[in-house]
Amino acid sequence: MKSWSLMGLLATAIIALALPVYAYNETSRMDAAQARLLAASVEQGEMIYAQNCVVCHGADGQGIGTYPGLDNEGVRTMDYETLFKTIERGRYGTAMAAWGVNEGGVLNSQQLDQLIAMLQSGDWAKTARTVDAAGLNPPTVLNIELPADTLAEVAKLPQGQMLAQALPLYTANCSGCHGPSGEGTAIAPVLNDATLRSQKSDEELSRIISNGVSGTLMAGWGQALSAGEIANLVGLIRNWGEIPPGLIPTPELPPLASSDAEVIAAGGKLYSVACATCHGPAGQGTRMAPALNAQSFLSQTNDQAIKMIIAQGVPDTRMPAWGGRLTDAELNSLVSFLRAWEPTAPAVAQPLPGGGQGGPPWLRNNTGN
Ligand code: HEC
Ligand code: HEC
Ligand code: HEC
Repeated sequence: MKSWSLMGLLATAIIALALPVYAYNETSRMDAAQARLLAASVEQGEMIYAQNCVVCHGADGQGIGTYPGLDNEGVRTMDYETLFKTIERGRYGTAMAAWGVNEGGVLNSQQLDQLIAMLQSGDWAKTARTVDAAGLNPPTVLNIELPADTLAEVAKLPQGQMLAQALPLYTANCSGCHGPSGEGTAIAPVLNDATLRSQKSDEELSRIISNGVSGTLMAGWGQALSAGEIANLVGLIRNWGEIPPGLIPTPELPPLASSDAEVIAAGGKLYSVACATCHGPAGQGTRMAPALNAQSFLSQTNDQAIKMIIAQGVPDTRMPAWGGRLTDAELNSLVSFLRAWEPTAPAVAQPLPGGGQGGPPWLRNNTGN
């Protein structure tokens, strides 16, 4: 009897011990299946993100210019319904468009779920690598060579080292709008100017260059340029007066617009897919966006500037930055396509048939920016 009860006790003890082990194995098996499913969704989500969201929210989710970052606790812990609706429907009156197919967008609910998996459970460093591997990084900063003897002369000036680093950066990225010597153009203000130097502190200049100016062609460079590079550009603006006139040769920017029929046709195809809904099939403008097929725009805006506007977008407007999704050759083909309108473009935007008196300013007489 005693031994039986002992056996019974032992058996019970063994079962009692084994059960949780079994249960534990079963949960971990289910956990593992779920984890695999989640990992697969995250991976799909990374690719969807790379193709659709990087241009505004950044490869690493830090946000570009004034567009918000998504790598934060607010997004990671947002309840599922709210996050789903945010992406599906967008945010009315902001650049955050509706992405769900039900709302006129391009993503189905499975894809939205995969995005959410990535946003809430993914690893942003891994997403950044996926974006990079897919060649979908946001606009990269251009670089241009200045003649070595010019740079050597510049380096002899006070602050010469800093100026020698800042000038090539300025020439490649800023001169298209602000002019080769910072003298300003029809579309962007003068930077080589004592008034600007006396009015704006280094901090203010740095903030403008990093964040851009909301609603203007001045995009934010905070994502594309390092803090050191921005500091050098501020230094250039601060010390421009020290550079003897004529020392910097007017740099020859590579010509952009091609008159090759094939390049123009490729640009036209891209335009009809990516731009026509907003700017109109013939560039005549719509209620969504200004006319591009107008002398007032084309004659005042050089090729480099047009390319920069397309690549960087116009902050806080519906004009997105395209640099992340279009290659350099594609951007050039778009510039070529727009430039080909110039000989026949009307002086100012053609009013739309039936367009009333009101509406946005660009449907009245477009003045070019
Ligand atoms: C053209 C720029 C642009 C693109 C492209 C874009 N977004 Fe946004 N997104 C924004 C802006 C601007 C906001 C802030 C809206 C506001 O002010 O509420 C935003 C907000 C969000 C938010 C809410 C963040 C928060 O903290 O509340 C999420 C989530 C989001 N976007 C996800 C996405 C996803 C996913 C994609 C790609 C499918 C995407 N966005 C593409 C511009 C963009
Ligand atoms: C696509 C055209 C464009 C490009 C490219 C561009 N800018 Fe600008 N920038 C503008 C416009 C337009 C303004 C005026 C914004 C406003 O109305 O306040 C401006 C304003 C500025 C200002 C403020 C000037 C003032 O008087 O307050 C600074 C500083 C500046 N830009 C620096 C730069 C630097 C540095 C670069 C290159 C990294 C650059 N910009 C590239 C168009 C551009
Ligand atoms: C979602 C709508 C939308 C799409 C799509 C779009 N744009 Fe724009 N675009 C705008 C808006 C809005 C502006 C005016 C921004 C402002 O207020 O300055 C603009 C401005 C511009 C400008 C500057 C015009 C000027 O007078 O200064 C150019 C150039 C331009 N877009 C080219 C393009 C090209 C090329 C494409 C396609 C690759 C494109 N846009 C796609 C909405 C759009």
